[in-house]
Amino acid sequence: MSGVQSKNTALNNAVNMTFADDVIKGLSLPQKMLPSRYFYDAEGSRLFEDITQLPEYYLTRIETEILRAHSRDITKDVAAESVLVEFGSGSSLKTELLLNTLPMLSAYVSVDVSNAALQEAADRLARHFPDLVVRPVLGDFWQPLSFPPDIAKHPRIGFFPGSTIGNFTHNEAAKLLTKFASHLSLGGRLIIGVDMKKDVQTLLNAYDDSAGVTAEFNLNLLTHINRELGGLFELAKFRHKVVYNADEGRIEMHLLSLVDQNVSVCGHDFSFVKGETIHTENSYKYSIDQFQTLARSAGWHPHAVWTDELHQFSIHELRLNTISHTNQL
Ligand SMILES: C[S@@+](CC[C@H](N)C(=O)[O-])C[C@H]1O[C@@H](n2cnc3c(N)ncnc32)[C@H](O)[C@@H]1O
Repeated sequence: MSGVQSKNTALNNAVNMTFADDVIKGLSLPQKMLPSRYFYDAEGSRLFEDITQLPEYYLTRIETEILRAHSRDITKDVAAESVLVEFGSGSSLKTELLLNTLPMLSAYVSVDVSNAALQEAADRLARHFPDLVVRPVLGDFWQPLSFPPDIAKHPRIGFFPGSTIGNFTHNEAAKLLTKFASHLSLGGRLIIGVDMKKDVQTLLNAYDDSAGVTAEFNLNLLTHINRELGGLFELAKFRHKVVYNADEGRIEMHLLSLVDQNVSVCGHDFSFVKGETIHTENSYKYSIDQFQTLARSAGWHPHAVWTDELHQFSIHELRLNTISHTNQL
């Protein structure tokens, strides 16, 4: 086995231990839950791209429209030789809209937990932007990630589209924004897509589409656990369920057990009663004021906001104060 292979095997083992710990911990809670980042194995990333094409999934369509209409304004005073750092980059399709209007960058750093998505995006970007230096980083944006020394001193601009921030509770979102501030360093800025509050039926349709793609995406989490952790979930015994939690201002996705059953995962037995759910994802919706207040609480200054005519989706530019550089993402 080569050095690289053995390093990758060690990394995969460590990743699977964290995955196993998170699954055991989440399924042991009174309200069973699983962290949403485990949706994104290769199949999950592919299904998410299918979701973005659905007529009901307005989020990608409208965020893309806003970027297309305003990318020149969004990128207008970015310094040449900056580094664009995208958190949870997935397909990096929206990134291309920014890249078209950005000055010459010293690099584009894409950070994602999905190796398949990172590789596919890097291959496409190499064809579309042959002069761009692309540095994919396979990792969790909550963790410190080492930053290549040759670009460590360049100004950084963060990009966090897709309303992925909505997957976190308000407390977690504030912590993540604080983490991004340290990743981007003082003087940095963050362009972040945030889904907005709207009528409940539009929200429910977006997460429970008529073609059943989001249901497949949700259930694929169990397939991921079965494959990587030797879980024994029977998918036919669970159903995709979506609710709007008005008190929390969030869409919730669950997997509902259709029968009383026991499921073994990593040598642990978990019992489900009929109708019990595993909470698999939150998608918080924000007004502009509410999001700007959250950003301020995390040390950011709201600088600008762009939205569509119907105020369905927002893109915020947040800035930090003075310039200093760190070697850690
Ligand atoms: C909702 S998708 C958004 C994808 C893309 N940014 C877009 O706007 O279409 C969330 C992405 O974040 C990635 N992701 C989720 N949790 C992550 C984490 N903790 N660290 C790094 N990437 C993560 C997923 O693999 C996925 O590609």
